[in-house]
Amino acid sequence: MSLKITNIGQLATFNPETGKVEKSAGVEIECQDGLVTSIGSNLPSADKEIDASGSLVTPGFVDCHTHPVFAASRAEEFSQRTAGKTYQEIADAGGGIMSSVRSLRETDEVELVEAVKRRMERFLSLGTTTVEAKSGYGLSTESELKSLSVLSKAADEAAVDIIPTFLGAHDFPEEFSDNRGAYVDLICREMIPAVAEQGIAEFCDVFCEDGWFDVESSRRIMTTAREYGMKLRLHADEFKDSGAASLAAELKVLSADHLMHVSREAIARMAKAGVVATLLPGTTFFLAESEYAPARRLMDAGVEVAIATDFNPGSSMMQSMPFVMSLACLYMGMTVAEVFISATYCAAKSLGKEGVVGSLLPRKQADLVLWNLRTLEEIPYHIADNRVLAVVKKGKIVYETS
Ligand code: NIG
Ligand code: FE
Repeated sequence: MSLKITNIGQLATFNPETGKVEKSAGVEIECQDGLVTSIGSNLPSADKEIDASGSLVTPGFVDCHTHPVFAASRAEEFSQRTAGKTYQEIADAGGGIMSSVRSLRETDEVELVEAVKRRMERFLSLGTTTVEAKSGYGLSTESELKSLSVLSKAADEAAVDIIPTFLGAHDFPEEFSDNRGAYVDLICREMIPAVAEQGIAEFCDVFCEDGWFDVESSRRIMTTAREYGMKLRLHADEFKDSGAASLAAELKVLSADHLMHVSREAIARMAKAGVVATLLPGTTFFLAESEYAPARRLMDAGVEVAIATDFNPGSSMMQSMPFVMSLACLYMGMTVAEVFISATYCAAKSLGKEGVVGSLLPRKQADLVLWNLRTLEEIPYHIADNRVLAVVKKGKIVYETS
């Protein structure tokens, strides 16, 4: 089955060969067997054709940091924050991640699969075609395996590609609050072997932060996961400089994420080790904090920067990559071209998938978005709006507005 998109007003994509965002006017794209086969003019006719009527076309977004496997809303915490409580105060009082853990453990798998499928449909409607998705609200072997199984079942039916990550080290469950070391033992001795045997998780992640997993425990968990064949990414230096970004460099993980409080020394180490920085300005915005991650400092040091939503019920209830692009432009001093590369190619690179997704070039996967917009600059300019007209995944139309 072949597909041709004609009459494209502007085709925008990062091209890793030229190192630039390239914009071409009046081109056509041909897709076959899920891949882009050619880009040019007067291409041969295809089984199905879409007239883009002069619209902008871009690659689908890659959201490389999300926590979509949760059962219940935490809107009451949002209200508590509007009344003056901080995220950490709510967490210390038994809310936060632990409240999501309690509700996830009580919810059966079928219900969770339905919820995650609905969330994946929403990602798609916002132009995201690849989603990294973490477990981490189970925090027991059984409920972490359940969360990963939910991701695998949702992926069987969802049009988006889901990249599953095991995040058993997201917090310490209540039953281990007096013996945190025993929970780290459980992760290393029981959970990681079980997750590896289950065979769903591609990555392992740890919330490495003062008050959560310290550098030593994080190192142990990450190296164990690596021995069991998982690739690594790390929540690093979100609330303070905990030495997590340096650990990310030491272990040469694919991506260190958050980094609101990363030190200059750690930035240099990340650059040397080739660790991608995944920045999550939606979280800073949602928590009404003022300190955004130092995107410019990271880029100046030679670190490649990705951006993602951090979609989760507590600290970033948002799924829109265009909105995250707007935030990155306005609050992290990034240009439109830079945020576009961060949301597509570099996000794919943080997952080791830049050869397949994140750019629209011959032989890449045919994942693309048709916009009710004319130019790339208009994506972050239309704040908190959805201008997606249609989404093509692996060469098939999977979403269309009426
Ligand atoms: O990425 N930082 C840790 N985890 C999430 C928050 C999860 C939650 O509050 O449920 C984050 O921001
Ligand atoms: Fe996160």
